[in-house]
Amino acid sequence: MSAIEPAFVSAEDEWSPLRSVIVGRAEDSAFPSEPEHMMAATMPSEHLLRFKPLSPFPPAILARAQEELDNLADVMRKEGIRVYRPNKVNWLKMQGYTGAMPRDGLMTVGSALIEAPFSWRCRRHEITLAYSEILSELGSSNSGVTICRAPLITGEDTLYHGMLGKSRTNGNIPTSRWSINNSRPAFDAADFMRFGKVVIGQLSHVTNRRGVEYLRAVVPEGYTVEILETTDEHAMHIDATLLPLRKGLMVYQPERVSEHELRQHEVFHDWELLACPITPEPRQPPSPPMYMCSPWLMLNALSLDEKRVLVEANDKEFAAWLTTLGMEPIMVPFGHVNSIGGSFHCATVDLVRSGAKD
Ligand code: NVA
Repeated sequence: MSAIEPAFVSAEDEWSPLRSVIVGRAEDSAFPSEPEHMMAATMPSEHLLRFKPLSPFPPAILARAQEELDNLADVMRKEGIRVYRPNKVNWLKMQGYTGAMPRDGLMTVGSALIEAPFSWRCRRHEITLAYSEILSELGSSNSGVTICRAPLITGEDTLYHGMLGKSRTNGNIPTSRWSINNSRPAFDAADFMRFGKVVIGQLSHVTNRRGVEYLRAVVPEGYTVEILETTDEHAMHIDATLLPLRKGLMVYQPERVSEHELRQHEVFHDWELLACPITPEPRQPPSPPMYMCSPWLMLNALSLDEKRVLVEANDKEFAAWLTTLGMEPIMVPFGHVNSIGGSFHCATVDLVRSGAKD
């Protein structure tokens, strides 16, 4: 086991050996209190009724999710990885969502840690509330880390304005493919992934063109941001669409993106690109419901290095297939974290991957 990594930030891909990471926490998470059209755009329809403003997730699910996250942190520490945990926050009281999904709000690009200008109003204070101390420690570490905080929204947030029209039957109909307009920069960090000097991302119900322009302006010199055209009508977060396993090998979700589209991006010209051959089934009881995600959350795995990848304990067929590709899946229970909105990639932020060069 190698020495614990000092406090700094350096990552430019998704597969080099993970050395330092943030692992989220689940206590007091609450269903997001966004307008229904935002929830309807991305979430499984059978769970929409639960999205009432200020309703808590079932406490038993949160307790188990917290155990799973603590276990994940232990797995990482045993590998010699430095683990940061966010502050405990009462999200229900703060009208927020969760501290369990740090990947949505923070993105490492080289030596910069970039805060997402979230779309969702209920997430506006998430980074300040849960991660301020981590950002202070990393920002004052005297090791060239740039902390890029999101612009403050002053006055009314106009992002949802004009996105619904009235149908002839008096219901609301969307006026565009996406649920947000372009009136201010908005993105979730989980709509992007690092492939060396190229960051690949997607437009989605939480990421707009101005958000992409903003990201292009704040990534360190030498990095570029390219946008993948997906066919995902419910797009929110690219990390159940792409799963890079190691340099030169990536699995993709074929209902959301085509190999042809991926090949348009020079960075993939010599990669092996594999359509995932396994269609995941919805989890059945006793697994808790996936309130916010599709079964394709299976692809939200996390590489510890170019061989070892964390896979949810239920996804045995997927893990067996990964072994045929030369990978060594590590099965870790995460079904209750999945229930509240993400899997291993969502629940972590890579701070240092040791292949990265500044
Ligand atoms: N919105 C994606 C999950 C992204 C981690 C899905 O539900 O498949």
